[in-house]
Amino acid sequence: MRRAIFPGSFDPLTMGHLDIIERSVSLFDEIIIAVLNNPDKNPMFTPDERCEMIQEILPSVKKSECCLLVESFAGLTVDFAKQRNCSAIVRGIRAVSDYEYELRMALMNRRLEPQIETVFLMAAEEYSYVSSNLMKQIFTLGGRVEGLVPELVEAKMREKLGLGVRF
Ligand code: PNS
Repeated sequence: MRRAIFPGSFDPLTMGHLDIIERSVSLFDEIIIAVLNNPDKNPMFTPDERCEMIQEILPSVKKSECCLLVESFAGLTVDFAKQRNCSAIVRGIRAVSDYEYELRMALMNRRLEPQIETVFLMAAEEYSYVSSNLMKQIFTLGGRVEGLVPELVEAKMREKLGLGVRF
């Protein structure tokens, strides 16, 4: 049983995250999309809201044998991964600029838990500039984010900001 964890803030899930999930499903039998519960980051969505959104969006992921689960967690990623018997941590890399941060995290996680490997997947080029923070900023300032976040996420951001339904 190849079980992996895909940890992140997912505040909110972007098309880049979805792309990484789609790429991971052929590599693992089970993937836990692990939503970090970290109030210090002043998130737009609560962990429950993020998990619910992801649950609703997951059926749009290409059919495969892989089982996709969504859970929130607090504390160390490696502790959660170990608790859930995951042997790999999946992380997406968009551009070279992500690499240094991701490398540091992967090496630290390996030091903490040598049995757990980090697997880097390259996001599709068209999402190389997409991040949750940028999406929130653009959206909040009235910019267009269509095609860069799932439709449900855009609708939930509108709701969150009291912008009403868009026709
Ligand atoms: O989507 P993000 O915000 O880039 O995800 C970062 C995340 C959640 C993977 C990272 O901050 C993390 O693992 N946080 C949990 C605490 C932890 O394990 N810290 C040590 C990492 S070396």
